[in-house]
Amino acid sequence: MSYPYQIKTLEQYHQAYKESIEQPEKFWADVASSFQWKKKWHNVLDWNFKEPDVKWFEGGKLNITENCLDRHIDELGDKPAIIWEPNDPEEHHRVLTYKNLLFKVKQFANVLKNNGVKKGDRVCIYMGMIPELPIAVLACARIGAIHSVIFGGFSSQSIADRLHDAQAEYIITCDGAYRGAKDIPLKSVIDDALIACRFVKRVIVCTRTRVPVSMIKGRDVWWEDEIKKVETQGNPDCPAEEMDAEDMLFILYTSGSTGKPKGVVHTIGGYMVWSAYTFVNIFQYQPGQIHFCTADIGWITGHSYIVYGPLLAGATSLMFEGVPTWPDAGRFWDIVDKHSVNILYTAPTAIRSLMSFGLEYVNSKNLSSLSVLGTVGEPINEEAWQWYYKHVGKERCPIVDTWWQTETGGVMISNMANITPQKPTFATLPVPGVNPCLVDENGTEIHGNEVSGNLCIKTPWPGILRTTYGDHERCRLNYFSAYNNMYFTGDGCLRDVNGNYRITGRVDDVLNVSGHRIGTAEVENAINMHSGVVESAVVGFPHDVKGQGIYAYVISEGHHEDAELTRLDIIQTVSRIIGPIAKPDKIQFVSGLPKTRSGKIMRRILRKIAEGETSNLGDTSTLLDPGVVEEIKSGAL
Ligand code: PRX
Repeated sequence: MSYPYQIKTLEQYHQAYKESIEQPEKFWADVASSFQWKKKWHNVLDWNFKEPDVKWFEGGKLNITENCLDRHIDELGDKPAIIWEPNDPEEHHRVLTYKNLLFKVKQFANVLKNNGVKKGDRVCIYMGMIPELPIAVLACARIGAIHSVIFGGFSSQSIADRLHDAQAEYIITCDGAYRGAKDIPLKSVIDDALIACRFVKRVIVCTRTRVPVSMIKGRDVWWEDEIKKVETQGNPDCPAEEMDAEDMLFILYTSGSTGKPKGVVHTIGGYMVWSAYTFVNIFQYQPGQIHFCTADIGWITGHSYIVYGPLLAGATSLMFEGVPTWPDAGRFWDIVDKHSVNILYTAPTAIRSLMSFGLEYVNSKNLSSLSVLGTVGEPINEEAWQWYYKHVGKERCPIVDTWWQTETGGVMISNMANITPQKPTFATLPVPGVNPCLVDENGTEIHGNEVSGNLCIKTPWPGILRTTYGDHERCRLNYFSAYNNMYFTGDGCLRDVNGNYRITGRVDDVLNVSGHRIGTAEVENAINMHSGVVESAVVGFPHDVKGQGIYAYVISEGHHEDAELTRLDIIQTVSRIIGPIAKPDKIQFVSGLPKTRSGKIMRRILRKIAEGETSNLGDTSTLLDPGVVEEIKSGAL
């Protein structure tokens, strides 16, 4: 396997970057020609950010699974595509070669067809991190169905909302999932979701924990039984459906500043080129290396850098079922040692958590196979960066700090391992094809260096989101209306004297808790559903391990019990409505919220108090009742 588009020197990076901005069509046509198309595109790029309307490789026909699997078989058929490491280190790991994986994808694609799934249908996947998850994802892509993977930590209510939004009639799930010491009853969460989703026709259940599950006649079937049916039908083949470059590949829900998650839509051709290009270049992947991305496939990082990016590059992708701290805080290092992992890609929150357990776990393992480290999901603090560099990479391995988003499909700003310089806490330079700029509140571009502002992108890259499912206007309003003719990221950012970018965090009402994006409005909606709550306001506060924690100010009607019990009830409510990831860390009961005369909550004040700042609260004279601030200050947690 060779990558004609792999950048090999700093000069080549500058050259590629320049060309990608000056002649994007030529640049991306060259990259795209390394892939297998059933029919070539007639137009590389057509775009406007007004509507928005972005089309890459128009007229091109392809199937992404042929690019991930079939085309590698001659050269890499017996090489590992996926190495699966289970939750429990006592259980055997599994290796799927490219041949095995293709066979299983075709087989399960036939199961989907037997169960009535057709091109364009939306299939919701709610599974634990077992190999059947990427198999299900790829089987959907094989037949042109649109997958919508939902992270296993979301509640039945969240799933029901997503099923409704996507009108997904098919679900693939597991009986349960292992996560550290816990068994999560996935199927029963689905059962609860389906009470309100009568349109779901079929639930395919894969066995993992074998907890008792209720299987409803006519609706629920076992994965294993369905595979047997396909086997007895005798034809293991499943030709790849011919898809248009701009057909939808997947929907992935993510939080924004409103109460309702958005279904971010990615299409096939552009996402394929972008995920492969960024994977090969950022990590400087070399054939034969083992790439371990610790994310869950329920998030974009898992889509792009466990499944699609690595498989498109014919790489070996290691996927892990468990958590970093079980059975002990050496689990990642165990896996690196056992499988001689070369590239480790994880989140700052995991690094901070592992740091707190001391060096004994990391020093007792052989990490000499590592050559590249990466981080994603949130800003990395200097201390965590240094620890990762020194104790994990032994000062040998570059750390790529990759800034990107669900909406961008792949990495946008990052150093490239051993090619472009790293700078701790900086994502550094844009990937070729990415045209970033900083703007002030009026939307005026801020030129020059040593400046900060809101981060926007001026021109489309192949992996840009195309719409938000079922509501294109929402896509326009969210991303393309704040600033004229630009994609607005929602992040604040500074540019240093050398043009390196450092992301400083969200500037909208979105929190980043342990690298998970959570809208404050979503959490408020969930808190407000508790019967004793009148109103609430949620803000973030700095948290040593999670990056940000969730701080809720709650007005509650005379709790019939003590405040602590009400607090626990509220936490339980949020857990039921969204999922455990959105549980508030702190709940302060207040008698009022600081509001302007027009009724707007002054979050700036609440944020400051949550951060422990009580003196410098800025102008409070526009408040309806300035007295409320004193009360909140004195009760701060
Ligand atoms: O605020 C940025 C932060 O995560 C947000 C995107 O979240 P999500 O769509 O869930 O995708 C996460 C994985 C790509 C961004 O708006 N973020 C992501 N990576 C970084 C980051 N902040 C700072 N540095 C990063 N490397």
